[in-house]
Amino acid sequence: MRLHAVVLAAGQGKRMKSKLFKVLHQVCGKPMVLHVVDMLRELSVERTVVVVGHGAEAVKGAVADRAEYAMQEQQLGTGHAVLQAAPLLEQEEGLTLVLYGDTPLLTAETIRQMVEAHRKNGAAATLLTAQMPDPKGYGRIIRDESGEVTSIVEEKDCNPEQRGITEINTGTYCFDNRKLFAALHNVTNHNAQGEYYLTDVIGILQQAGEKVAGFVMSDPAESIGVNDRIALSEVEAIMRRRINRKHMTEGVTLIDPDSTYIEADVRIGSDTIIYPGTVLRGHTVIGEDCIIGPQTEMTDSVVGSGSEIKRSVLLEAETGVNAHVGPFAYLRPGTKLRANVKIGDFVEIKNAVIGEGSKVPHLSYVGDAEVGKNVNIGCGSITANYDGVNKHKTEIGDNAFIGSNSNLIAPVRIGNDAYVVAGSTITHAVNDGDLAIARARQANKPGYAEKLKKRIRGNKLSE
Ligand code: UD1
Ligand code: CA
Repeated sequence: MRLHAVVLAAGQGKRMKSKLFKVLHQVCGKPMVLHVVDMLRELSVERTVVVVGHGAEAVKGAVADRAEYAMQEQQLGTGHAVLQAAPLLEQEEGLTLVLYGDTPLLTAETIRQMVEAHRKNGAAATLLTAQMPDPKGYGRIIRDESGEVTSIVEEKDCNPEQRGITEINTGTYCFDNRKLFAALHNVTNHNAQGEYYLTDVIGILQQAGEKVAGFVMSDPAESIGVNDRIALSEVEAIMRRRINRKHMTEGVTLIDPDSTYIEADVRIGSDTIIYPGTVLRGHTVIGEDCIIGPQTEMTDSVVGSGSEIKRSVLLEAETGVNAHVGPFAYLRPGTKLRANVKIGDFVEIKNAVIGEGSKVPHLSYVGDAEVGKNVNIGCGSITANYDGVNKHKTEIGDNAFIGSNSNLIAPVRIGNDAYVVAGSTITHAVNDGDLAIARARQANKPGYAEKLKKRIRGNKLSE
């Protein structure tokens, strides 16, 4: 049977008290609505329609071509929202899942179980329910004496007895597509909030003699709907544990999972060890057998296998295999380290390729540069790449040696096997194999140290 899905994402999310539209708030680095849409992609859903309204362009931008879109101009309720998908889906045969864009923890496995129960029961509608120890804010499930679901009552419309019910509506449903849209046309807004509730479809179908089933999910935490920042933090913590467990299951050691923050789309190879205080963001990819952290932050970076990255920050940077980085290095966008590179303490690299086996061990800035193989850049040496208006390039050939505390004033090229003497300020090209010395000649004044001290003391006395 064909399977379609409608994801509701048109609400403003007033309770978030935010400039950002609710479903775009991130959970482990990924907008909530994308968690839902990506989860659906694990199921064989044919057409997914995301209903957008508030922040429509931004939501579309995040979901991109993973879905089709229906526009809900005014947020008149969840039932009204699903109805906006009618022009796209009404004529389809099969089943339609409806999910809310603010329930990012739902898993494909749970949805699979719900769909299976739906088919087995031959139901017109199956709703995913959960036993919530604290059901506050959720719609309550009303069942009759025989245990059949008869309706969902929103908290604001509950009488005191109904409010005591702990079985809640997760906002996730499986419908016979034709029956869903037929019933939606009959939903009214006669309730405490004056909205067209999707949940009323359940009562309408039931009264029409259709079979309505409730499927109780095993892990209620999966169904948390994020309406405010408190729920957002709860969901973040659960998602973080889930992500960490997945990496550990796949052979990654996390020394302290509670202080390790790995976003949803990060990939890590087996036998890599992650020390506490590490934050891995975006599309970061880490190879096998690496040691990462402690206190390391990476965003959209790639780390080759066998690397060790300690107390450092990597932003859109890339290392080859066996890199040694840190402590206290900052690799900025466009950094590309080839194999076996060492970047030491207090080194900043930006938009630069560092060739195989090269070393930048301490206190350097290398920006807009191309550095060859087996180069050594001595302590305190920098590329002066910026003249206040433009950025210029520095090239350093294979096996070159840059003595400590040198300034390479770009644009400049240091040839292969060249040698720059410590303390030089290089403004002209150095040819292959040449030695460059560019500093003031030293002058010694015999015995002058004592004389100088006396003069300084004399000045002090006369003051
Ligand atoms: C809803 C359910 C409630 C359930 C809970 C589960 C209804 C009437 N209530 O309540 O039974 O227990 O979710 O989390 O369905 N939306 C639109 N257009 C609208 C209104 C809402 O697209 O006009 C979207 C929102 O962006 C959101 C979702 O629908 O993603 C749910 O809306 P929300 O206001 O969060 O509903 P709840 O009060 O949480
Ligand atoms: Ca909600």
